[in-house]
Amino acid sequence: MSANLKGKHIILGITGGIAAYKSVMLLRLLIKAGAEVQVVITPNGKEFITPVTLSALSGKPVVSEFFSANTGEWHSHVDLGLWADAMVVAPATASSIAKMANGVADNMLITTYLSAKAPVFIAPAMDLDMMAHPSTTRNLELLRSYGNHIIEAASGELASHLTGKGRMEEPEKIVEVLDRFFAKGSSLRGKRVMITAGPTIERIDPVRYIGNFSTGKMGYALAEEAASRGAEVILVSGPVAIEARTPGIKVVKVESALEMLAACKEAFKDSDIAIMAAAVADYRPANPHDHKIKREHEGIDNIELIKNPDIAAALGAEKRDGQKLVGFALETDHALENGGEKLSRKNLDMIVVNSLADKGAGFGTDTNKVTLLFREGRAPESFPLKSKTAVASDILEAILSL
Ligand code: C5P
Repeated sequence: MSANLKGKHIILGITGGIAAYKSVMLLRLLIKAGAEVQVVITPNGKEFITPVTLSALSGKPVVSEFFSANTGEWHSHVDLGLWADAMVVAPATASSIAKMANGVADNMLITTYLSAKAPVFIAPAMDLDMMAHPSTTRNLELLRSYGNHIIEAASGELASHLTGKGRMEEPEKIVEVLDRFFAKGSSLRGKRVMITAGPTIERIDPVRYIGNFSTGKMGYALAEEAASRGAEVILVSGPVAIEARTPGIKVVKVESALEMLAACKEAFKDSDIAIMAAAVADYRPANPHDHKIKREHEGIDNIELIKNPDIAAALGAEKRDGQKLVGFALETDHALENGGEKLSRKNLDMIVVNSLADKGAGFGTDTNKVTLLFREGRAPESFPLKSKTAVASDILEAILSL
């Protein structure tokens, strides 16, 4: 059952598609699950389903215009956006998807969408050719990049009597998606999670550095996933090209291993969980120059290096009862053996082992294939190749089980 929807404030956005008739069932199921639902409908939506039905079922007047026709009262999309725990747009037509993706705020539903601080779920419904058009694909991609959740359309018979992808997902399924989201959403509430991500870069001189190929994707995926489970996240990040999107993530930008160490020691003090996903440079130049080294006169064929501190091990030595410390081990061979050795040497509670020998695992990819190793008595857990987001979810579930 959908126990996690009880008391939740949901905005149900309805746009002008045949599938709007299914929104009535969706509304009924949400109300039955104990949610408080405010329907916002587009002018076209009203051609398909009447506000009277919707307000009778939701127990609230349906919002459609910027002003109430009777009283002249202004409907505040800002207040609505703040009230909501989630917004669901179902059905979402090609046109509304395009407007949401591009901020075309010409009706109450789109202004509400733009004001919504809560997570947004979008269930597209349209004919198969519209669904497959590059314009729709691009707009959905944009919405995904804003952190919105797309509830993929199903395949089957469409209103046009053609068969293909474009059917709005069934109301029961949409309720399931929301229920799962809220169940997960509170699993790290009240916890402070510190995560390191990306490479560190070690200056040789003002223009040159020693670095590595880490893109930060795994660490950022962990931060997004932890934040969406309600954690307060401190993401200590080396230089990367990506950004954290989910509210609740505080990013501390660092460059070198020494800077990362200082930021981690500070953040670890009041953290419940620390996950070390950064690829810290093993060495740094012993004497970084403050001017550009002249190749011709000074030469750069001999750079003296000194070892960087092991940040994970430093936190492992300071770890208090109740704090959980998790590391990564990126190996090319003897992955499990080496991972196990690091687990005990660095005083970790769990280590995520990935092997560069596995296709799709490691640096730069959007996927990863991991094995989790635990302390004495618990058997390793291996997972198949998955998106880094899904891997992040598996890792956090495992941490919660420690
Ligand atoms: O020893 P190795 O570099 O393989 O260990 C990997 C794990 O230790 C990762 O969790 C990494 O983030 C962490 N680490 C660290 N500081 C270092 C080296 C590694 O925190 N100097």
